[in-house]
Amino acid sequence: MTVHFIGAGPGAPDLITLRGRDLIASCPVCLYAGSLVPQALLAHCPAGAKIVNTAPLSLDEIIDEIAAAHAAGQDVARLHSGDLSVWSAMGEQLRRLRELGIPYDVTPGVPSFAAAAATLSAELTLPGVVQSVVLTRTSGRATAMPPGETLENFARTGAVLAIHLSVHVLEKVIADLSPHYGADCPVAVVWRASWPDERVVRATLGTLRTAIGAEMERTALILVGHSIGAETFDESRLYAGDYDRRYRPVGTDPRFPETAPERGE
Ligand SMILES: C[S@@+](CC[C@H](N)C(=O)[O-])C[C@H]1O[C@@H](n2cnc3c(N)ncnc32)[C@H](O)[C@@H]1O
Repeated sequence: MTVHFIGAGPGAPDLITLRGRDLIASCPVCLYAGSLVPQALLAHCPAGAKIVNTAPLSLDEIIDEIAAAHAAGQDVARLHSGDLSVWSAMGEQLRRLRELGIPYDVTPGVPSFAAAAATLSAELTLPGVVQSVVLTRTSGRATAMPPGETLENFARTGAVLAIHLSVHVLEKVIADLSPHYGADCPVAVVWRASWPDERVVRATLGTLRTAIGAEMERTALILVGHSIGAETFDESRLYAGDYDRRYRPVGTDPRFPETAPERGE
């Protein structure tokens, strides 16, 4: 018996891995985080599967469900939105399962920042502009931020910020970031990326408040940084015609002779 933690993706039911879909189909028990996991994914559960929405349950109650499946020798598909490596509450469940000696594995999913970037058709790491992306959030009622992890500190690096769980404190986000990025820094807010009712607002830090108006639905990602919508950036050296490398040697670097056995992309 194994508990399969599966990243369910950002919303569109076809943005799940084939492995994740097949695991759902193989498990007689499915626990899903109902607030963000699309119901359509549950169609992959086998006939007669026990399907439980864990949104109203406590951690103890979730573990009780898993322990009951373990006692019955039944595999469990455990679905969380996006990817499991960020803000999934997987860590505390895995710790309990280790204590109970219940086996588990983890299948990654498409994170919401990647879905939002895809909606914008944006490469966030444009050469000569930005080479880092920070996945972050602001303090919430349930989770305080560690002291060093402030928006100001991240902003000092100039990285693109993918700010989760924070659209309800937009004024603070704008106030904290404007001194570092400038009022003309591009911003995009993507609500419910990949869902049928997805919405996008593109603005600058200076115009965002007005551009958004009253819209405050919470499942949104705020992307801030100078690569968003940029047209002025360098081309990647990797594909430059004169750039010598193992897979496309042009004969100037002795490490990559033109007769190198592996050629091409
Ligand atoms: C509890 S976190 C889950 C993050 C998730 N594990 C991931 O990989 O993105 C929920 C937050 O992620 C962001 N989020 C999740 N799904 C989203 C989507 N489809 N579009 C925009 N933001 C999303 C929002 O900031 C939301 O408040």
